[in-house]
Amino acid sequence: MSDDDLLYLDHAATSWPKPQVVLDAMRRWYEQVGVSAERGDGERCQVARAEVAAARRGLGALCGLGGDRVAFVSGATEGLNLTLRALLRPGHRVLTTAFEHSSVVRPLAALRAPLGLSLEVLPPDPDGGLAATGMAAAIARHRPDVLVFTHASNVTGAVFDAAAFAAAARAAGCTSVLDVSQTAGWLPVDVGADVVVGSAHKALLGPPGLGFVIARPGVALAPQKQGGTGSSQALERHPEAWPTAFEAGTPNTPAIFGLAAALRWADAHPAPPRLAACLEEVERLADALGQLPGVQLLRPPPGPRTPVLSLTLADADPAELGLVLDAARIHVRSGHHCAPWLHQHLGTQASGTVRIAPGAPLGDRDRQRLVEAVASAAGG
Ligand SMILES: Cc1ncc(COP(=O)(O)O)c(C=O)c1O
Repeated sequence: MSDDDLLYLDHAATSWPKPQVVLDAMRRWYEQVGVSAERGDGERCQVARAEVAAARRGLGALCGLGGDRVAFVSGATEGLNLTLRALLRPGHRVLTTAFEHSSVVRPLAALRAPLGLSLEVLPPDPDGGLAATGMAAAIARHRPDVLVFTHASNVTGAVFDAAAFAAAARAAGCTSVLDVSQTAGWLPVDVGADVVVGSAHKALLGPPGLGFVIARPGVALAPQKQGGTGSSQALERHPEAWPTAFEAGTPNTPAIFGLAAALRWADAHPAPPRLAACLEEVERLADALGQLPGVQLLRPPPGPRTPVLSLTLADADPAELGLVLDAARIHVRSGHHCAPWLHQHLGTQASGTVRIAPGAPLGDRDRQRLVEAVASAAGG
């Protein structure tokens, strides 16, 4: 079978394929630039500096801030680790949600006992969402120092009212940390959170191995690793200024070139119609798959959502369905999607779900191919 047959439905993990301009920009770096922005003053360094600055400005604009407090990191995972380790102090009270990715769950699990954190995890509402009133009540009850939350569930696609959550946190004197990995590129993320952390390689359509941390002015974050930054090189002491303080080590400049190109591509191809088309596709798939005997869909409540459809089968494990789909040249994700807490509420803790996440509408033939493959695994 040729690659033309491959149906890639795992955009919530990593978007693919990338716009051609992203590949071209990365290739340009490898073929014509080859240097880091902050490692010299030559002409090539200036080219790199201009492109890295453009990427920072683009991300800053997405978050309603300038580019000067935008730090590049290796991914949202590093960004969340950095932020939580920088913010949390012994005895702090932390509020988070059951929808979090392991990149929040695991740092909190690791820091909880050593720092003596008091941790509250807000469960999903009965409809699978998280109402702003429930979050406000949890903030009033738990009085957290730090609220860390994802903008959307990577399992069900439910999108939360991040602006209301951040406002409630601010009113209570609590620092809010927003994980926009699942929404940046699809939805506005300039919602007033104190720290915004995200990933380049999902709906932003950039390359993997790149993420970002953006902090509002006045939010103090201490760097969590020290090393070469290309600045103040004669000094033993690590610099404190944004963004270099958070970028010790040779940066992933080709990936930043790719992201800068992806952000320009997105300016020319606005997200709302692309998202609407994907959400319509999810509804078509939900209608078709939901009619199959033995298929259970895990839908978010009505309202904003990302193009993600999770399902389970009555008589087959998600991993088995994943294999059936793989044999039919359909790439989806089966398992827990690095969201360990949520499955305890969905009743899917044993083996998770199969997640279908389109990055564009499917043709009728491909949709039929997917439905037939799921039907065969469901025993239909
Ligand atoms: C909600 C959420 N947070 C964090 C991450 C981690 O992102 P990265 O791959 O950039 O480390 C992911 C992606 O897997 C995610 O879906």
